[in-house]
Amino acid sequence: MGSAAGIVVVILAMMTTMMMSLCSSLAAARVVTTRWRRHRRDVVAPPAGGGGACALAVAPSGYPCEEHEVTTGGGYILSLQRIPRGHPGRAGGSSGAGQPVLLQHGVLADGMTWLLGSPEESLAYVLADRGFDVWVANNRGTRWSRRHTSLDATSWRYWDWSWDDLVVNDMPDVVDYVRTRTAHKPHYVGHSMGTLVALAALSEGKVSEKLKSATLLSPVAYLSHMTTPLGILLANTFAGELISDLGVAEFNPTSPEVTNIVSGLCHNPGINCYDFIRDFTGENYCLNSSAIDVVLQYEPQPTSTKTLVHFAQTFRAGVLTKYDYVSPEVNVENYGQEEPPAYNMSRIPVGFPLFLSYGGQDDLADPADVDLLLADLRRGGHSDATMTVQYLDKFAHLDFIFGVCAKDYVYKDVVSFLNRFN
Ligand SMILES: *[C@@H]1O[C@H](CO)[C@@H](O)[C@H](O)[C@H]1NC(C)=O
Ligand SMILES: *[C@@H]1O[C@H](CO)[C@@H](O)[C@H](O)[C@H]1NC(C)=O
Repeated sequence: MGSAAGIVVVILAMMTTMMMSLCSSLAAARVVTTRWRRHRRDVVAPPAGGGGACALAVAPSGYPCEEHEVTTGGGYILSLQRIPRGHPGRAGGSSGAGQPVLLQHGVLADGMTWLLGSPEESLAYVLADRGFDVWVANNRGTRWSRRHTSLDATSWRYWDWSWDDLVVNDMPDVVDYVRTRTAHKPHYVGHSMGTLVALAALSEGKVSEKLKSATLLSPVAYLSHMTTPLGILLANTFAGELISDLGVAEFNPTSPEVTNIVSGLCHNPGINCYDFIRDFTGENYCLNSSAIDVVLQYEPQPTSTKTLVHFAQTFRAGVLTKYDYVSPEVNVENYGQEEPPAYNMSRIPVGFPLFLSYGGQDDLADPADVDLLLADLRRGGHSDATMTVQYLDKFAHLDFIFGVCAKDYVYKDVVSFLNRFN
């Protein structure tokens, strides 16, 4: 490996695992690929009838919902959905003006992550029904957030960013918007890359004054314990070459090029797609397969190639740094030093309330990697007074957002945590 072709395969393999993670309740990847093709003709087309996620996903459940728009420092125009109070027929329905909570999805997903499940089992609705004012973020480049003040989403410049830019621009700007609109500091809840962006921003002192707390579901900071066949494939590849070979571009996991290669990949000797799903994302404990079918109509969503290269770098390096341009000159240009600067999780301000929930079967946020993060936090002085850690030995990556039992194992505790630091 190391050739351009090998590198492409690695990127696609990474993508595959993440996509597969959405489908782990299904038996074979080929089936999944077919389903995507069927459902996903209009991956990022504007919604029919001019509605947004509110009209599509929230209103049918009978919850109030507002569409909002934030223009971030980089000129990206992001959509946000707000569920200001609970269902009119349920306990939280009458209150309103509760404490704001911002929900941040992970990579290759969008805000629909939180909105598609049944109201009793999905965190957004559970929080609204408990009297919280729920705000749902949508990352740049995903279905509802593809506009920019001057760039077109078909241009390479639009895609010239990695998740570092979400740390610097989008996340703080979205938090500011919610804070301004509600006159309260929001709580933050992230899943997967949504936790990474928060941890990185907190470690740089960017947002701890603007947030009340952070809840991190399947927290990702280190990735070095992914020891699956796919992980080895990644480790043997030069992540640094990726960007020059593939260029700065959109990575759209549902484009025909990608789905074709994904189904080809599953025929590779040594990469059995069924094992692949189980080995890599872990065995999810309580996914509802018919609910996952609904999710697959809307996910996965695009991201930038550079974000995926950055993940590959994190996996290989074993430490969390900013995006590595590989060329010392280009790093100096961007960072004033030849190596990309490290994010240091020990610097997350002590006393800032954190809730971390992780799963023993999660092969993306591997428990060994989460333990490294926890060690950093404790080294930095975090203690049980403000840091709540929950370990669920049967949970894998997707149980935290789509699991029908997450309400009992996770969300109940999230609600108590939020109430404690309200
Ligand atoms: C599974 O999902 C389907 C469709 O969304 C729903 O009708 C059913 O009640 C769900 N089952 C459980 C156990 O939540
Ligand atoms: C991270 O920050 C802590 C606390 O400021 C410091 O003691 C430690 O040396 C830093 N680690 C690295 C690798 O820079």
